Amino acid sequence: MEGTTSTTTISPSTSQRKKVTTLTFRQKNERGEPITMLTAYDYPTAMAIDKAGIDSILVGDSLGMVVLGYENTLPVTMEEMLHHARAVSRGAKSALLVGDMPFMSYQVSTEEAVRNAGRFLQQAGMDAVKLEGGRERADVVRAIVGTGIPVMGHLGLTPQSVHQLGGFRAQGKTASAAKRLLEDAHILEDAGAFSIVLESVPAQLAEYISKQISIPTIGIGAGAGCDGQVLVTHDLLGLFERFTPKFVKQYANFHTQMSKAFTEYLDDVETKRFPAVEHTVEMSAEEWEEFERLNVEALKREEDL
Ligand code: KIV
Repeated sequence: MEGTTSTTTISPSTSQRKKVTTLTFRQKNERGEPITMLTAYDYPTAMAIDKAGIDSILVGDSLGMVVLGYENTLPVTMEEMLHHARAVSRGAKSALLVGDMPFMSYQVSTEEAVRNAGRFLQQAGMDAVKLEGGRERADVVRAIVGTGIPVMGHLGLTPQSVHQLGGFRAQGKTASAAKRLLEDAHILEDAGAFSIVLESVPAQLAEYISKQISIPTIGIGAGAGCDGQVLVTHDLLGLFERFTPKFVKQYANFHTQMSKAFTEYLDDVETKRFPAVEHTVEMSAEEWEEFERLNVEALKREEDL
């Protein structure tokens, strides 16, 4: 092909696993098998997560912090969420794809919430949506589920309420707060949620709630007693330097690796070690000679004019 040095063939995976659905969540839960979930915001990450066999990908509004550099998740818009969700759905074909409803996309009215939930499925290839809150969101959850869109709840530390919570703090640590959380979990289940994220709540409480409700709980900072686990991929990979929550297990340190690679590149370019011959497009000696001949002829014609 003109203009390329090598051609890489991307072959489609021959052994693509079965599509994960909300039914798979229920079946895994019934069998006592942990459900796995990670966040993704782009095509290559979604591909890698899907290939690893992770059950579900959350296009979380955490993208506002770890990708877009906002202070918190509040500025994230529907358009930003849909843009990233589309990229993820192009990369992941088997995992259950959950689009996170951003702040103010479901709080104003039930109609708006249903319309925005629908956009995740219609315009971005998501399979389900997630939204934050308990009893105060029951009607919205019921209405979205009523249109046939699966809803994942989110209780405990709900980052969209960061100002109301007084910061990113663990929740459900008092008896009355724990009781309220348990009630909210029951309310979301009754409203038709297929699963609930429990974020930053005491492990004992998360395990208790998980046993009390029949839909699977997905924990983040909520201990091993949940029915599944989710992490923000940028935390797991060590890509987000600003802070790492206590509950994160870092499996890599990509930020350090990235910085090292960029410094090496800088050095290579400045010292002219890059690009080397192997990174360079070649031209045959005959074509070069012909090019020179044509060039000389053209120059001569210009001089004759
Ligand atoms: O936005 C997000 O990534 C989330 C997870 C932390 C569950 O809501």
